[in-house]
Amino acid sequence: MMTMIIKFCFFAMALLSITPANAQTEVLFGYRGKNGPNQWGHLNPHFSQCAVGKLQSPIDIQRRDTFYNQKLESLHRNYHPTNATLVNHVCNVAMSFGKGAGDVVIDNKNYTLQHMHWHTPSEHHLHGVQYAAELHMVHKAEDGSFAVVATLFQIGTEEPFLSQMKEKLVKLKEERFKGNHAAQVEVGEINTRHIEHETRKYFRYVGSLTTPPCSENVTWTILGKVKSMSKEQIELLRSPLDISYQHNSRPCQPLNGRRVEMFHELPTE
Ligand SMILES: *[C@@H]1O[C@H](CO)[C@@H](O)[C@H](O)[C@H]1NC(C)=O
Ligand SMILES: *[C@@H]1O[C@H](CO)[C@@H](O)[C@H](O)[C@H]1NC(C)=O
Ligand SMILES: *[C@@H]1O[C@H](CO)[C@@H](O)[C@H](O)[C@H]1NC(C)=O
Ligand SMILES: [Zn+2]
Repeated sequence: MMTMIIKFCFFAMALLSITPANAQTEVLFGYRGKNGPNQWGHLNPHFSQCAVGKLQSPIDIQRRDTFYNQKLESLHRNYHPTNATLVNHVCNVAMSFGKGAGDVVIDNKNYTLQHMHWHTPSEHHLHGVQYAAELHMVHKAEDGSFAVVATLFQIGTEEPFLSQMKEKLVKLKEERFKGNHAAQVEVGEINTRHIEHETRKYFRYVGSLTTPPCSENVTWTILGKVKSMSKEQIELLRSPLDISYQHNSRPCQPLNGRRVEMFHELPTE
C-alpha cells in the first residue's frame, strides 16, 4: 500500500528512486477542474483522507482560534551544510537534500530535514490573508511521521537564498522547455543555515499533507514573521511548472475544533 501512495508528486523523487518519466505519468491530481482539490479524495482509494479527513491542511489561522501556549519552546533547528538538488516535482519546485541535512526537535522528537518546496500563492492564510508564496520544509521522524515548517512570503525585496539559486532555477525552466518536465539540477553544497529564519513567533497545529494522499498527523509550524520575495522570484519558481500547476495551493480546510497554538517569545528583562 505504501509503495502505491508514495508514487505521487512530492513523494516521487523524495522517497523513491523512480525514474523521472515514471514520476510524471503517476501525477494524477491537479488544482482545478476534474482533478481539482474537491475531487482528490475520489481520484484514488489511497487519497480518501483528502475527502473524509477531519484534520486537514492548510487552514486559515484566525485570531479567535489561536491560543498562546507558554509551554511551547523556541524552534530548535539544527541544519548542516549539505549537497542539494533542485527537482521539478511536476506539481511544485523542490530542493532535496542529502543525508545529514539536519533536524528539528519538536516535543523531544527528532525530525530529519528531507526536502523543501514552494507553493504559489500561499496555502495557509494568516488572519484571513493569503500571501504570494509559501515555503514548506519537510522533516520526517524515524517512525515515519512528518513535521513541516512553513514560511509565508509577500511580494517585496528579493529573498537572499533564492537569489543564489537564480541560475539553477533558470536551468530547471529551460529543461522544461526542452520537454523534460521532471528535471533535476545539481546545486552542490549549500549552507542550510541560511534558510533558518528567526522563530520568535510561530503557530502550531496538527494537520495533514496538503497534496494527496493528504495523510494526517503532520505537525505544522507556521512561522509568524512573513518574509519577502520579489515578483521575479515568484515567476521563477512557477516557470519550470506546467501551467496547470503554476497555481498550486490547496484551499483552506475546516478546523473542525482544532486548536492552533501560538509561541511568542517575550522580551527578557
Ligand atoms: C558534496 O559533494 C561533493 C562532491 O561529490 C563532496 O566532495 C562533498 O563532500 C559533498 N558535501 C557534503 C556536505 O556532503
Ligand atoms: C537527531 O538525529 C540526528 C541524526 O540521527 C542526530 O545527529 C541528532 O543528534 C539528533 N538530535 C537530537 C536532539 O536527538
Ligand atoms: C501522531 O503523532 C504523534 C507525535 O508525533 C505520535 O506520538 C502519534 O503516535 C501519532 N499518531 C498516529 C495515529 O500516527
Ligand atoms: Zn507543500
